[in-house]
Amino acid sequence: MDASKRLTDSFGRAMGDLRISVTDRCNFHCLYCLPETEAAADFYMKQASMGASQDESVPILRQWKPKSQILNYEEIVRIVRILAPYGLSKIRLTGGEPMLRRNLDQLIAGLSAIEGVRDLAMTSNGFRFLEKAQSLKQAGLKRMTFSLDSLDSKGFKKMTGVAALDSVLDSIAIAKDLGFDPIRINAVVIRGMNDHEISDLAAFAQKHKVSMRFIEFMPLDAGRSWQKSLVVTGEEIMDHLHSRFDLVPVAAINDSETATRWRFRETPEAEIGIIAPVSKPFCRFCNRLRLTADGHIRTCLFSLEEYDLKPLLRGGADDMQILKFIRDAVLLKEERHHIGESSFVQPVRTMSGIGG
Ligand code: 5AD
Ligand code: SF4
Repeated sequence: MDASKRLTDSFGRAMGDLRISVTDRCNFHCLYCLPETEAAADFYMKQASMGASQDESVPILRQWKPKSQILNYEEIVRIVRILAPYGLSKIRLTGGEPMLRRNLDQLIAGLSAIEGVRDLAMTSNGFRFLEKAQSLKQAGLKRMTFSLDSLDSKGFKKMTGVAALDSVLDSIAIAKDLGFDPIRINAVVIRGMNDHEISDLAAFAQKHKVSMRFIEFMPLDAGRSWQKSLVVTGEEIMDHLHSRFDLVPVAAINDSETATRWRFRETPEAEIGIIAPVSKPFCRFCNRLRLTADGHIRTCLFSLEEYDLKPLLRGGADDMQILKFIRDAVLLKEERHHIGESSFVQPVRTMSGIGG
C-alpha cells in the first residue's frame, strides 16, 4: 500500500491495529479492572495496611453507558470499511465482555466481508463463549484470546468475582476443537494474588498447546488500587519460568508486537508471551488505535482526551469527513504513557470501558 495513505501519527507510527470495544458491560469483576467484590476489597485493604495508598483524586467511570449511546453494528462496520484501505487491517473485538452483545456473529460476518481486513480476533473472558463458538467461527472469526488468571477454582473466583473456571476451561477446549488458531490466554499477574500460579499457567500452555501471555498489572482498575509493588515484572516472571522450563526465544515478526515470546523446546506449538507495558514500555512502536463502545476514538490506553465520532456518524457526515476526523485524532496520539512517573494521571475509564 502507498505509505502516504497510511494513518500516521506525529512520531512516524503508522496505525495498523484497531481494537473495537463492542460493549462496556461485563459479567466479571476482575481485581485489576472492575473489582467490586469483597475478596477484592479484602486483598487491596491488606495491601493498603502494608503501606499502599489509594489515589482518590481521579473520578472513575463506573456507570454503564446507556444503550442509545452504544454504536450499532452498521456504524461499527462502516468505520472499519472506511479505515481498512488505509492500513488498519488488524481488527480485535473486545469489551467489557463482547459475548454480552447480542447476535455478535452478524457483526463478525459484516467485518470479515470487508476487503482489506486481514485479521479478525476477539478477547473474551470465556464465560459465555461456549454456546456461540461455532456460529462465530462460521461468521469468520479467526483468533481468540481468553482471560484466565488462575487455574484454581477458589483463586479464579477471588480474581474475577465469579465461580466460572470450568466454563472458561470448556470454552478454551471448544475453541481449540473448532480450529481457532492460535489460541491465546491472558493472565494478569498481581503480586500476592496469583503470582504463585505462574508455573502452573505455563504448564497449562504446554499441555494444551496454546500461547500463555503474562501481562503486567496496569493502573486501569476501577478501584484505583494499583501500585507499583503489586506489579510482577516480566523479568521476574521469566526468571521464574526459565528455572522450570526449557524455553527458546521466538523472533518478533514485526516491531509493533507487544509480547516478547518464547516457545517450549519440547512442545514448539506452545508459547509463552511476556507483555511488560510497565517495566518495558513498547510505546515507541505502538500502532494501535481504539474505538470505544460509545463511539469515541482513543489513541492510547492511557489517553486523557478522546474524540467522539458519534456526532459525525449520526449527523450525516460522509466517509471522507469521518476519515479526516480519525486522521486528525491519530496526529494527536501520545508519544508514550507515564506510568510510574509523578505526572501520571489515571484515565477516567477503566479497561472495561476502553477495550483491552
Ligand atoms: N492491567 C493489565 N491488563 C489488564 N487487562 C484488563 N485490565 C488490566 C489491567 N489493569 C487485560 C486482561 C484482559 C484484557 C482485555 O485486558 O488480561 O484479558
Ligand atoms: Fe475482567 Fe475483561 Fe471484564 Fe475487565 S472487561 S472485568 S478484564 S473480563
